[in-house]
Amino acid sequence: MKIIFFSAKPYDIQFFDSHNQAFGFEMEYLETHLGPHIVKAVDEQTFAVCVFVNDKLTTEVIETLALKGVKVIALRCAGFNNLQLETARKLGIRVCRVPAYSPEAVAEHTVAMLLTLNRKTHKAYNRVREQNFSLNGLLGFNLHKKTVGVIGTGKIGKAFCKIMLGFGCKVMAFDPVIDQNLLAAGIQYGTLEETISSADIVSLHCPLTADNHHLVNTKIIGLMKKGVTLLNTSRGGLIKTEDVIDALKAGHIGYLGIDVYEQEEKLFFKDLSGSIIEDDTIQRLTSFPNVLVTGHQAFFTKEALDQIAEITLNSIKQLSVGEEPAPAVMLV
Ligand code: NAI
Repeated sequence: MKIIFFSAKPYDIQFFDSHNQAFGFEMEYLETHLGPHIVKAVDEQTFAVCVFVNDKLTTEVIETLALKGVKVIALRCAGFNNLQLETARKLGIRVCRVPAYSPEAVAEHTVAMLLTLNRKTHKAYNRVREQNFSLNGLLGFNLHKKTVGVIGTGKIGKAFCKIMLGFGCKVMAFDPVIDQNLLAAGIQYGTLEETISSADIVSLHCPLTADNHHLVNTKIIGLMKKGVTLLNTSRGGLIKTEDVIDALKAGHIGYLGIDVYEQEEKLFFKDLSGSIIEDDTIQRLTSFPNVLVTGHQAFFTKEALDQIAEITLNSIKQLSVGEEPAPAVMLV
């Protein structure tokens, strides 16, 4: 039984090949992302396609997959904003994902970004290597007693909240669904506006949906404290990047840490070190001394990759023998 992987990187091949020893699927790995340009290359023997965050599962792509007889689209990620679920449902293609793969991996990376920004360790690292031991320009701020506003307290947001409580922060949160365990742990829920306006640090942990596209725009930034630290390890489309750049220029946003970027599909997961980047927005962002950009690596730990491979192959296996995977795994 054949699975074609799109956007496959060496680490995908390593982890999936290793876990496939227990499943025995025929695996084909393609480096290109899935989109209208390549979907016709999928052959009729393919039972499942396995895709990642920047593959484009448009109506056209899913219709072609259905014509080829593909039975399963397996997302090896949690988010599914890149997939037309309704088309898959209409055409009878099952869609599975990995709803949770080490939420701690993403939460811990968010904290790593925060600690880099507030203590400027990235600058210190470079300075010391050049024998510059001066402290000028490295002044940081304590996290202890700061207010952290968390937007979305699902699996990742919850793990992040717990870490921030450990730092001695006051944690406020906005989520349409209130988590009673977090309330008991001392987290205070409020509206989006209350949460954002009271926070020294705002961290986004909600999924990207049609309703919250460009959630962080000039209007919402206007509610934030001057000098706020904004973190986004969720999805690039949650932030209107041009508005954030204006706020950075005006000094309203004091620090920005992003692991995701709205136009990331042309950039992230690729080595472009010898190329001319045409995207002026990312170039402007990386020119700020108080901005840290990582290339969608928050999930990237050994533990998470093991879970992604195991859960994905297990779901495909169950679907192939007519068993129903756990409801949380199935989108369609
Ligand atoms: P989850 O489904 O466990 O939690 C999401 C939470 O957001 C839920 O509690 C939901 O009620 C809440 N929510 C939904 N809409 C909201 C809104 N408009 N405002 C506030 N809260 C809202 O999801 P999980 O596992 O915590 O992942 C969150 C997001 O993190 C994913 O959707 C994905 O976009 C992103 N992610 C990023 C990764 C990375 O490597 N950078 C890796 C994995 C996920």
